Amino acid sequence: MSNTPSLNALGQAIQPARTQIAADTQSLADYAQQAIHHVEAHAWCHIEGGSDQNLTLQHNRAAFDALRLLPRHLADLRHAHTRSTLLGHALESPILLAPVAYHRLVHPEGELATMRAAMALQTGMVVSTLSSHTLEEIAAAGQQATQDMGHGGGPRWFQLYFQPQREHTLALLRRAEAAGYTAIVWTVDASIKRSGFPLPYGVEAANLRGMPAPQHTSHLAQGPILFGTPLALQAPSWDDLTWLRAQTRLPLLVKGVLSPATARQAVAGGADALIVSNHGGRVLDGAVSPLEVLPAIADAVNVPLLLDSGVRWGSDVFKALALGAQAVLVGRPQLHALATAGMLGVAHMLHLLRAELELCMAQMGCATLADIGPDCLWQSPASRPPHKL
Ligand code: FNR
Repeated sequence: MSNTPSLNALGQAIQPARTQIAADTQSLADYAQQAIHHVEAHAWCHIEGGSDQNLTLQHNRAAFDALRLLPRHLADLRHAHTRSTLLGHALESPILLAPVAYHRLVHPEGELATMRAAMALQTGMVVSTLSSHTLEEIAAAGQQATQDMGHGGGPRWFQLYFQPQREHTLALLRRAEAAGYTAIVWTVDASIKRSGFPLPYGVEAANLRGMPAPQHTSHLAQGPILFGTPLALQAPSWDDLTWLRAQTRLPLLVKGVLSPATARQAVAGGADALIVSNHGGRVLDGAVSPLEVLPAIADAVNVPLLLDSGVRWGSDVFKALALGAQAVLVGRPQLHALATAGMLGVAHMLHLLRAELELCMAQMGCATLADIGPDCLWQSPASRPPHKL
């Protein structure tokens, strides 16, 4: 083993997480800028990167930036709030933490710190199959935090990746149910993706101990590349949705939907809600942005829609809701905040995003989430007939 200290992506010594929030940290963009100092270089590239040319990664942001808001003033804000219900859960705000693997890559307390912060801010968290603490440890941290805070916390959901053997998938599902998770999020867009990020010492897929390691694409010069390999042969298909639906009574969300046809089929197969997502631009480069397809999916199905990929500002949350989402999820920002300032950072990051949403709603004249709709967006006359003003 080498004694060379690990460096961050700037070639400098990695800084430990801060114990206080710096005064200049005022947005998720600030957390993204600061986090690079606190994360080992390979882990940073793994977290930040998209696939191939990063076309989809960049397009996710461009799609939000291209939309224009059409403010209306003098609304009565005396009873304004951001509450809603989703799949029977009360949400304080329409913002959740997306499932993100291996939080211990950026902070020793990993998902335990993220969960505590989420519960303190009454925010839902979706725990990844690939978490670096066990799903039971994370659930216990969430329960404890909720008790300590003396309020309802937020929903705790479990994200499921199918395992090569069904008995292992079922074991994960049963463990999630037993640990008190209240919904299952089945991610369908990443069963086949390039991978190969070597986990550093001390970070593991804690839930998968004793299960065979997941398959990756082959790096060999000869033999099958993908087709004909176990990765392709064992990839889940629509039959697995039927099977999964029959296994659990928990609400089931399908994550990674981008086409209206997939949305219809997922709902027909028993999905209670969909997460419109391109996995933060990490899978198929060139894929459409979730924001672009959201209206078509909202037309195609009649279940709650959530959206992620590129959400960074309160106005992004607003825009997603205006186009038909009930809630959004953030991925990378939770790792940026965790790396920069641990649990405190994640809590602060969530506070900032919620504060921006409230400010945006107020400036847009929307007292509740129900007031947010397509008429809040300016549609350029060149692209569509204008809304009645
Ligand atoms: C992810 N994502 C992800 N999704 C999932 O269903 N299970 C997982 O284990 C992971 N792991 C993961 C790791 C890292 C480092 C990233 C950045 C993302 C995808 C995640 O849930 C979400 O779809 C995107 O992160 C949303 O895009 P933004 O907010 O990062 O732009």
